[in-house]
Amino acid sequence: MHRIIVTGATGQIGSELVPALRERYGAANVIAVGHKKTPPPELLELGPYAALDIREQSALAALVELERIDTIYHLAALLSATAEANPLHAWEINMGGLLNVLEVARLNNCAVFHPSSIGAFGPSTPPDHTPQVTIQRPNTMYGVTKVSGELLCDYYHSRFGLDIRGLRFPGLISHKTPPGGGTTDYAVEIFPAALTEKKYTCFLKKGTYLDMMYMPDAIRAAMEIMEAEPGRLRHRNAYNLTAMSFAPEELAAEISLHIPGFTISYQPDPVRQAIADSWPNSLDDSAARADWGWQPRFGLAEMTAEMLAALSG
Ligand code: SER
Repeated sequence: MHRIIVTGATGQIGSELVPALRERYGAANVIAVGHKKTPPPELLELGPYAALDIREQSALAALVELERIDTIYHLAALLSATAEANPLHAWEINMGGLLNVLEVARLNNCAVFHPSSIGAFGPSTPPDHTPQVTIQRPNTMYGVTKVSGELLCDYYHSRFGLDIRGLRFPGLISHKTPPGGGTTDYAVEIFPAALTEKKYTCFLKKGTYLDMMYMPDAIRAAMEIMEAEPGRLRHRNAYNLTAMSFAPEELAAEISLHIPGFTISYQPDPVRQAIADSWPNSLDDSAARADWGWQPRFGLAEMTAEMLAALSG
């Protein structure tokens, strides 16, 4: 029987991971943890919720001890554009929060899931079919915290024997909770704009290729890696992961198949364009496929059809 907490539970990933974990392990065994005093009703009504600031280690420790937690999915973090707007705050939340989680996990022998990102790569990384093990010299604060996080998680595993596992998530596309302040957010915003206005102005320019994934695949990946045979995990922190790679005009063309007359125009935001240009065009996730059987289920066509159906329902 697992006793689990999910930090960042009210965020884009957390709001979908919490119900999936509750379904698998029982609602009472999965505590949603967020910084909001009043979270969305479905998180409160369908299971336990605790409000805390991830920067307060003692509050986290008290919760883990009181609830006899054995697994922490640590999702609380700032995304790339928000981090770039306030780099010191991003360091405090992303690194301070992670260090608190790792220390509490060490003292209570908890397993930890920690997401890394395509942001852990930088301009000197080979951009196409980016290998699992390669150059990681990101030039964004988000990327600096993601690489540092990968290293810190590896350290806690090798030094203290903690069971920590991670994935380098691509841009995540979902219709339940919007992301906030990410560089890949255009691939989410475009859907409601297409349905309501039949047009969208993209903050990245044509030809900007990035890896993406539909949220059900991401949720399944997080749960699968935590259930994988530990002896097979050669790259615990963290595995390259992808489901598709596209540029904005390709997503727009796919949407036009469902919404004839839909148009996309481009007004690049210099900050987010620079971030996107520093990230890979497409990752090689063969290590995840070989080590723990990773297999995406949603490509561009399936994801687009489901997004439009869900948002118009
Ligand atoms: N989706 C994230 C971002 O754009 C990347 O991990 O910041």
